[in-house]
Amino acid sequence: MSGQTLILGNWKMNFTVKQAVAYAEKLSEKSLPSDVIVGITPHTLALSEIATLLQDKKSQLKLAAQNAFYKDEGAYTGEISMPMLRGIAQYVLVGHSERRHVLRESNDFIREKNAAAVRCGITPVFCIGETLVERQHYHTNQVLSDQIMLGLADLTAEEVAEIVIAYEPVWAIGTGEYASPEDVDKAVDKIRTEITSMYGATTGARVRILYGGSVTKDNAAAYLALQGVDGLLVGGASLSVSKFWPIVETAASLKKKLIPVVEKKGR
Ligand code: PGA
Repeated sequence: MSGQTLILGNWKMNFTVKQAVAYAEKLSEKSLPSDVIVGITPHTLALSEIATLLQDKKSQLKLAAQNAFYKDEGAYTGEISMPMLRGIAQYVLVGHSERRHVLRESNDFIREKNAAAVRCGITPVFCIGETLVERQHYHTNQVLSDQIMLGLADLTAEEVAEIVIAYEPVWAIGTGEYASPEDVDKAVDKIRTEITSMYGATTGARVRILYGGSVTKDNAAAYLALQGVDGLLVGGASLSVSKFWPIVETAASLKKKLIPVVEKKGR
């Protein structure tokens, strides 16, 4: 793990605007650990009001959009664009499995979204992961490498170094069934190896990789302790401050342990 740990709560299609704003307000009153970046992902209707609230409170909390289209503007009924997120959200989820599998987003579509986000200065949180059937057929590595190759094809090595990749095995999302730390370790290693072979060692070392899939305060430490994991994408457990905040605290306490003790030299 390098740099600041990123803990991102994905609220999905939950909360009224009023509830979302009240939650953000409660979270903004917490004092954020300096070595952890904490973000929330409200639905689109609540984004702008929460952004204003966080600015007013001078909060360091980050905002992520759950989705945005790849065209900047025009006749695309129902969509919002990446430029519309400027000044509101710092991150945008791209390729989340619910959008791949329920809303049938293709790898091509996802590639365009990653490129549009980067072009507009919004950091994509590019979600990848295998389904249960793919896992049972030992296709995990192939799926990961295909999704990476197709999803990032429009980006340069320098751009890929700045994005976030979330490894989210589809069978572990919202199911309560979570991946073992050994499985996550292997998948994250595969992702870094792929990025290194496609974009070089610097990008492979720099790209931030999160784990997501039924993360709770009880299993968070095991994932965060893995060397290649830079943070967590948290769904169900991010829906209340009381379940989400202990995950942030876990990240902060692990980070402290990682800071090497510098021995004082005798004079
Ligand atoms: P979950 O969702 O934590 O509820 O499994 C994770 C996600 O979809 O990002």
